[in-house]
Amino acid sequence: MNKKDVLLQAEEYVRSLLKEESSGHDWWHIHRVRGLAKKIAVHEGADLFICEITALLHDLADEKLFGNEEEGLLSIDHWLNKYGVHEDERKHILSIIKTMSFKGGTNRPIETLEGKVVQDADRLDAIGAIGIGRTFAYAGAKGQLMYDPSIPVRDEMTKEEYRNGKSTAINHFYEKLLKLKELMNTDYGKKIAQERHRFLGEFLERFLDEWDMK
Ligand code: ADP
Ligand code: NI
Repeated sequence: MNKKDVLLQAEEYVRSLLKEESSGHDWWHIHRVRGLAKKIAVHEGADLFICEITALLHDLADEKLFGNEEEGLLSIDHWLNKYGVHEDERKHILSIIKTMSFKGGTNRPIETLEGKVVQDADRLDAIGAIGIGRTFAYAGAKGQLMYDPSIPVRDEMTKEEYRNGKSTAINHFYEKLLKLKELMNTDYGKKIAQERHRFLGEFLERFLDEWDMK
């Protein structure tokens, strides 16, 4: 197995599957997460191949994109096997993908350094200017309003409530985005998160000021 070739093939595979995705999980999200993962991996001394390949494949088992997480994981495993990725590496990659999603904050903590790196990269793409853009795109794609002061922010929620309950783009800031800074795993990830988090606050303040016609 030539790792460079596997990465190129993975890129093609993911691009073809996600090119029509328009709820903020499109190919460019994957591209950015891969770039961030590479950066963090270098700083943290993590295995670059595992970080890059996992970043490329990380959204392919997402039940909100593909319906069924188990089937998604199986097809990722088949794909990796077809391209000659060894069993121990496949197991590692799949276990990261399985644990890394936020899902209302209900998932188990991530175990390996490479998992921490890729989860941080995915979380960084959910905050800052890009994160704000994705959140409004997602809300639009799901038919949610950008804001409705009569819909309360949800506090604790199950995975189902997180996915299917009533929300708005602005509520999502309180339900997820503002929590991410404290959930970062790596020092380098934390550093990038600081600035992106600050911008979320600044944006919210302005948005709510304008809403109140201040
Ligand atoms: P994860 O990939 O960790 O499971 P999600 O897929 O729930 O996280 O969220 C990915 C991105 O999609 C979020 O960062 C946000 O931009 C957007 N998003 C998800 N759920 C909502 C929602 N209810 N309202 C607005 N945006 C959302
Ligand atoms: Ni993602």
